[in-house]
Amino acid sequence: MILRDKVVIVTGAAGGLGRAFALRFASEGAKAVCADIADAAETVSLIKGAGGEALAVRADIADYESAQAMCGKAAEVFGGIDGLVNNAAIYAGIAMEPFHLIEEAEWDRVMNVNVKGTWHCCKAAYPHMIKRGGGSIVNIASASILEGNPFFAHYTASKGAVWALSRSISRVVGEHGIRCNSVTPGYTMTEASKGLAGDPEAFQKNYDYSIQTRAIHRAMEPGDVVGGVLFLLSDDSAFYTGQNLNIDGGCINY
Ligand SMILES: NC(=O)c1ccc[n+]([C@@H]2O[C@H](COP(=O)([O-])OP(=O)(O)OC[C@H]3O[C@@H](n4cnc5c(N)ncnc54)[C@H](O)[C@@H]3O)[C@@H](O)[C@H]2O)c1
Repeated sequence: MILRDKVVIVTGAAGGLGRAFALRFASEGAKAVCADIADAAETVSLIKGAGGEALAVRADIADYESAQAMCGKAAEVFGGIDGLVNNAAIYAGIAMEPFHLIEEAEWDRVMNVNVKGTWHCCKAAYPHMIKRGGGSIVNIASASILEGNPFFAHYTASKGAVWALSRSISRVVGEHGIRCNSVTPGYTMTEASKGLAGDPEAFQKNYDYSIQTRAIHRAMEPGDVVGGVLFLLSDDSAFYTGQNLNIDGGCINY
């Protein structure tokens, strides 16, 4: 159990990748704080059903006070914060349009959650991790930043910012024994990904393309991302900070 007794917040834990992270961390002994703007109760009941410890917290990461309240609740219930996985983002249902057709309001919505929200959570968790004498922050970016995807420039730019933010943060928090890294997952089969293309034919095209362009010719599942994030949270990566871990089955279309 490599996360025994660690208190780990996972944002965006109501479903998708966030749920997969929370379930695995709890199975490795973590007390999983499952935060989301949506209800994360189902994730918590799955964890508890498997004998783990978890807490659901409603939080809107775009709102700093809400991010602070999320961290406060985690510390109040479980006694502190050791890990933070910034997974929440605007991804599901995002408009697949080239950059010149993206509306300003949509651009701002994506940046507010994906970039500002990630910054908010890091900022809110930092004093709790200092009190704890250390910690690990893992920010979920995306391999789309390497690909130059032509259809969601706002999302891609936001994830590039998450990568850059992670490196900057790592330079500051290291003196307190806190680490900050990012992960860039490839196209992963969550419900959000399945719905992104719009229609089944377009989805099949994306799906086939993603498989053909990998060294490992199969679909990427949430479980494929979990191990890397677990490593970055655990003490096994104690001297690993400011780094990005790309997990994409050996994609060769960059
Ligand atoms: N699925 C993929 O192919 C893929 C690839 C690379 C990166 N990612 C990233 O992984 C993460 C999870 O992806 P997913 O496929 O599970 O997508 P998803 O859309 O299902 O998950 C995002 C979660 O964030 C929550 N959320 C959105 N806005 C929020 C806010 N303001 N405050 C709190 N919670 C909020 C949503 O309710 C949702 O549960 C995202 O950061 C996504 O960008 C996904």
